[in-house]
Amino acid sequence: MAHRITLIPGDGIGPEVSEAAQEVLAAAGVAVDWDVQTAGLEVARVGGNPLPDRVIDSVRTNRFALKGPCGTPIGGGFRSVNVSLRQALDLYANVRPVKSLPKVEPRFDVDLVIVRENTEGLYAGLELMIMPGVAQSIKLTTERCSRRIAEFAFRYAEGHGRPRVTVVHKANIMKISDGLALEVTRKVATEHPTIELKEMIVDAAAMMMVKNPNSLGVLVTENLYGDILSDLGAGTVGGLGFVPGANIGDDAAVFEAVHGTAPDIAGKGIANPTAIVQSAVMMLHHLGERAAADAIEKSILQQYDERKVVTRDIGGSASTKEFTAELCRLVRLHREA
Ligand code: NAI
Repeated sequence: MAHRITLIPGDGIGPEVSEAAQEVLAAAGVAVDWDVQTAGLEVARVGGNPLPDRVIDSVRTNRFALKGPCGTPIGGGFRSVNVSLRQALDLYANVRPVKSLPKVEPRFDVDLVIVRENTEGLYAGLELMIMPGVAQSIKLTTERCSRRIAEFAFRYAEGHGRPRVTVVHKANIMKISDGLALEVTRKVATEHPTIELKEMIVDAAAMMMVKNPNSLGVLVTENLYGDILSDLGAGTVGGLGFVPGANIGDDAAVFEAVHGTAPDIAGKGIANPTAIVQSAVMMLHHLGERAAADAIEKSILQQYDERKVVTRDIGGSASTKEFTAELCRLVRLHREA
C-alpha cells in the first residue's frame, strides 16, 4: 500500500529539490501518495499566514512530512514556518546526521549524529527588560523534556548501531539548569546499559567535532548548543547543502532540507537536491523502507565518488534535472542488484 505523506515544497528552490526527491523515491520503488501542501512566503502573500492550519492538520493526520525550505515574511510579527510546525506538533527532537560525502571538502571522514532538544532552553521565548538597560532571557530546563530527549538519543543509538552517546552541557557554570539535564541523562543512561555515556562541556565538544568528530557518536544536547553545533557539524562536511535533518515528535515527524530557499539561484534549475534526498532517506528508515533507503544512500555515495554528474555548487556543471536523472539511474541499478 502506498504511504500517505505530506509534501511541503516550500519557496525558492524548494519546489525544484522537492520534485527531485519525489523522483528518487519513485525510482527506489517506494509507493507514495503525496499530500502536497503549500506553505511559506508565497502562501503568506496570498492568504496572510505562511503556515495555514490545513498544513498542520495534514502532517498531524499523515504523521510524516517531507519539507523544502520556506521563506519567512520579514516584519509583521510572523513566526518562522519551521518554529511554528515544531511547536504545533511538539516535534521535540531535532536530528541531524553529519556524515562526509566522498570528495566533498573540507573533511572526508566525519560520521556523527546530533540530537538537539527543540522545545525549551533559551528558545522558550521568556525574555524581559528588567529595567532600562538591563535585559533578561530565561533558560528553561525541565526534567520531562530533558528525559524525553535523552531517551530519544539512547533509543536512536541502539537502533542505529552506535555504541556511544555524548551528552553536551555547561553544568560547570549553569549548575542548576544544565545540571538538571545532565543528572537526568545519567539516569536514562543506566536504563540503556549497552550504550556508553560520555559527558562533555560544550566548548570542548566544539573543538572535538573538528579534531576527532568520530569519538562522539550520538551527541545529545539542549537547544542553543545543539543549534550551534549542528551548523558547525554541517560546516565540517561541506555546508548545509549536504546534511539532512528531521524534527521528530511522538506523533509526527517532519524531514527537511536544512538549507534555505536560495533566492539567488531559484528558478534556474541548478540547485543541488542532495540534502532533501538525504532527508527523504531518513524518512524511509522511519517508514521501514530499509532496502529503498540503502539503495539511495549507496547511489548518492557512488555519484559523489564518480563525480561525473554533480551540480555547480561543488564544481560540476549538471542541472538539478541531470543530477536527479543520474541518481535515479543508479538507484534503479542498486535496487536490481
Ligand atoms: P540559503 O541556504 O538559502 O543560501 C545560502 C547560499 O547557499 C546561497 O548562495 C545559495 O545559493 C546556496 N544554496 C543553498 N541551498 C543550495 C542548494 N540546495 N543547492 C545549491 N546552492 C544552495 O540561506 P539564506 O540566503 O540565508 O536564506 C534565504 C531564505 O531561506 C530566507 O528567507 C530564510 O528565511 C530561508 N531559510 C529557510 C530555511 C528552512 O526553511 N529550513 C532555513 C534557512 C533559511
